[in-house]
Amino acid sequence: MMSETPHPQPLAQPWARVASFCVGALPVYGDLILSPMDGYSDLPFRLICRELGSAMSYTEFVNVDNLQGRHPNRIALMKLAYDPAERPMTFQIYGHDEDRLVETALRLQELQPDIIDLNMGCYVKDIAERGAGSGMLRCPDKIERVFARLSRLLSLPVTGKIRLGWDDRTRNYKTVARIMEDSGASLIAVHGRTKAQAYKGDADWDAIAEVKQAVKIPVLGNGDVRSVADIARIKAHTGCDGVMIGRAAIGNPWIFARKDREQVTVAERVALMRRHLGLNLDFYGPALGLILFRKHAARYIRGLPGEEVLRVPLLTCETVEAFDRLIGAWQEPAGQAILVN
Ligand SMILES: Cc1cc2nc3c(=O)[nH]c(=O)nc-3n(C[C@H](O)[C@H](O)[C@H](O)COP(=O)(O)O)c2cc1C
Repeated sequence: MMSETPHPQPLAQPWARVASFCVGALPVYGDLILSPMDGYSDLPFRLICRELGSAMSYTEFVNVDNLQGRHPNRIALMKLAYDPAERPMTFQIYGHDEDRLVETALRLQELQPDIIDLNMGCYVKDIAERGAGSGMLRCPDKIERVFARLSRLLSLPVTGKIRLGWDDRTRNYKTVARIMEDSGASLIAVHGRTKAQAYKGDADWDAIAEVKQAVKIPVLGNGDVRSVADIARIKAHTGCDGVMIGRAAIGNPWIFARKDREQVTVAERVALMRRHLGLNLDFYGPALGLILFRKHAARYIRGLPGEEVLRVPLLTCETVEAFDRLIGAWQEPAGQAILVN
């Protein structure tokens, strides 16, 4: 199950000697963490982000229904593949059936993650309206039961990622956070929006600050951190122990090294694209690896000079050699990025 992908570079923040926070007894060295993102936070991208400074790993969310029986879904299993260098490694699961959540979490321990996380934030209709993801927020009793069972039965810390509530009228984040803590959760990640908001409006960092005040376990603040300056802002605003970064890391994983896009040279960008693509090819094989890299490539090249010329050829080319030739066209004389050819 585990990947053998090599990772020649040292991982996250070797200078950080003091843990930023602990998940149960597990120290986490660093305060920036790549968000779980379905379709993005796979093993290759997580390794890239860990090398740049993301302090722990979360898998994409995995539906427990796809992990049943003797032959679980192959794609679900790939989402749970990890490299030991990613530790602390968190498996994020979701589901609506309490027994199934608990039984699956128990079995997943065999794969030796460090932490099991319950997704209580997904707003997708089919998931939320069945009572999974953010649908859990409508049933605090269920959250209490599931966390109490998980924390009693698992020998790993159990954590959860929430939104602020179902909608504006039911913003029950403080109640939910306290219930989680009282039922044995070891950390709460809070995306500062309700389910009904999806991605509309601004993330409410005041609410994240309220969660931080309401519990003693570590709180990760999440939502709309787009720049290095935002990292300091959300920390000052909320007092959160760590900052979870999602969309802004796509195309700019350097945010975990506290570098904004403009601070990354074209040469660094091209070198990292090559490395990320290499990891993708190792993990998914040549054909799928290249196809799945396209969405990342589109974001890596965003805003670069010549993007409009290279975008279509880059995102439609069918061989790794052609891809490599195209990105090699970016050069940077005297610190000034230009496109040649
Ligand atoms: C493409 C995409 C996929 C996501 N998948 C997940 C997921 O699997 N599990 C989860 O807890 N949140 C998921 N999220 C939500 C993010 O983890 C994060 O909470 C949200 O994007 C807000 O943070 P941001 O403003 O830094 O992007 C996803 C978000 C995006 C954009």
